[in-house]
Amino acid sequence: MLSWDDESAAPAPRAAQPRTQPQLQAVNNMPQYATHADTALDPGILARPETKADTTARVKAVDKRIINGTTDVNQLVPFKYKWAWDKYLAGCANHWMPQEINMQRDIELWKNPNGLTEDERRLVKRNLGFFVTADSLAANNIVLGTYRHITAPECRQYLLRQAFEEAIHTHAYQYIVESLGLDEAEVFNAYHEVKSIRDKDEFLIPFIETLTNPEFKTGTTESDQTLLKSLIVFACLMEGLFFYVGFTQILALGRQNKMMGAAEQYQYILRDESMHCNFGIDLINTIKLENPHLWTATFKEEIKALFLEAVELEYRYAEDTMPRGVLGLNAPMFKGYLRFIANRRAQQIGLETLFPQEENPFPWMSEMIDLKKERNFFETRVIEYQTGGALNWE
Ligand SMILES: [Fe+2]
Ligand SMILES: [Fe+2]
Repeated sequence: MLSWDDESAAPAPRAAQPRTQPQLQAVNNMPQYATHADTALDPGILARPETKADTTARVKAVDKRIINGTTDVNQLVPFKYKWAWDKYLAGCANHWMPQEINMQRDIELWKNPNGLTEDERRLVKRNLGFFVTADSLAANNIVLGTYRHITAPECRQYLLRQAFEEAIHTHAYQYIVESLGLDEAEVFNAYHEVKSIRDKDEFLIPFIETLTNPEFKTGTTESDQTLLKSLIVFACLMEGLFFYVGFTQILALGRQNKMMGAAEQYQYILRDESMHCNFGIDLINTIKLENPHLWTATFKEEIKALFLEAVELEYRYAEDTMPRGVLGLNAPMFKGYLRFIANRRAQQIGLETLFPQEENPFPWMSEMIDLKKERNFFETRVIEYQTGGALNWE
């Protein structure tokens, strides 16, 4: 079950295990260990024995590592990171497709000159303007970056599922744009043309470029911290923070019986993103457990500064999408909401809260994450939940 209260269930710390001999990694793009010149004063590297690869030894779960592992990434089992496999299964059970959702009422409302106010239309267009490219950025970051640096096959299995879900999300946003007959060029190019959107993406892009750079390899404290920082930015700040003003806005429309089809799509996406965020947090916490030397005071300060910058960027996006109050929402309400979420994300990865006690001004959002109930908010009923195939509504 997904809810705000889901704790990231990182496994309990275990004593350090001796590394085994590296084994054959046929097509896995394994990160290469650093050279001798890089090893000075680097405890992460000095711990590694210099051994020849044993290409035939059977995999022992205890030898697996999330990063810089030496076990065969082509062998999914034996499992070590069961939480990753469980999330993969849950993701598959939650499978959905955008065209299963009827958009007819949205189309009628959008085409009706009196159907929505100008502020509501601006909100929808700016909202889609961020999301139509955001999930492509997320997908590219996984496929071209993160994936090749992760050496636990059960985590790679989840990342493959997540990458497909990002494709479904981009499909869903495209489907809404097409259904409403919006100007595709304007919406899809918004991340170049609308400052509040561009600023969010420009914050993210350096972290994507680092991981997708073919020259980037893990294996030193510095490069492992770079990877960890990018994972934190993506899980906690992109999927865990930058999506939430947008999700809240469209779901608020749905609560007022407007854009119900779009709101349903967003509700499914929110459920998926909540899982992505929780997976990312488990990944981060397990890397921390396996590599405690990465979690330095200086590193934590860098992460806190990124959190504060992200909250500010998302708040500016809220102001830009809602220059006046709309749907009972206004930008200042989001200041408290973003601080509430940022505190939660910080706690989830073991940082102190960043802001004084903040209450959630949108408690109904937590309900939206959890679809496991007989009747959802929009008065449609899921009659076959988690079939692994189509969702049926009555
Ligand atoms: Fe997504
Ligand atoms: Fe995602």
